[in-house]
Amino acid sequence: MRQVQKKSTDKAKKKKLKSLGRITVTAGPTIEPIDPIRYITNHSTGRMGYEIARAALNAGFQVTLISGPVNLKSPQKADLVKVQTACEMRSKVIENAKKSECLIMTAAVSDFRVQSPSSEKIKKKDKLTLKLLKNPDILKQVADMKDLIRIGFALETKEPLKYAFRKLRDKKLDFIVVNSKSGSVDPFGPGKKEYTIITKTGEISAYKGISKRQIAELIIFKVTKEHENRKK
Ligand code: CTP
Repeated sequence: MRQVQKKSTDKAKKKKLKSLGRITVTAGPTIEPIDPIRYITNHSTGRMGYEIARAALNAGFQVTLISGPVNLKSPQKADLVKVQTACEMRSKVIENAKKSECLIMTAAVSDFRVQSPSSEKIKKKDKLTLKLLKNPDILKQVADMKDLIRIGFALETKEPLKYAFRKLRDKKLDFIVVNSKSGSVDPFGPGKKEYTIITKTGEISAYKGISKRQIAELIIFKVTKEHENRKK
């Protein structure tokens, strides 16, 4: 009897999840190999994306979490897709965005990759020049996916609003979350942060002394509202 009851509750839960839809979240850095031992990367910890995945699951969405290499535990119910390079992330995003209502790109995608990574360890020498190629802009490649709610992140060291507005427009985003690496606030790691959210209609909201968990919940609240509006 208990078993039967549990099964029907699980079914009801699944139904509820289905009705809210799926969010694809990217997180962490990408890494671009130089040789089998070395790579190019950045300081991203992935925490923002993992907090968003958690908040989205709590709100009743299904979640695909596409993650570069990080030291974090994925929320149990998220569908975790591990990637290394920007090109791998691009193909996984395109594949999953088609099945999603919303794409949230928190990943710090490397803008460049080494043109010809060495298959053997590069030995010490006086000078080494690496030729870098531009990586694809993942958000731009899904910019024309109809009905997909698109959210980008931007970390700037100067003129954050100016650059964020440009990215919002160029990548055809619904909104962009901006933070800057300047002064005393460090956007990496734990602690209180400062964020500004700019919407495609030009609304600007600033948040100070807020944790990554809190901003993640706020973002998911906004996504839920947008999703409901589109269904009307
Ligand atoms: N992004 C992306 N593909 C890239 C680079 C970035 O989809 N190749 C996404 C990021 O995940 C983020 C947004 O675009 O959501 C802005 O990323 P950012 O690195 O700030 O901007 P770039 O477009 O790379 O521009 P720049 O590095 O010149 O500031």
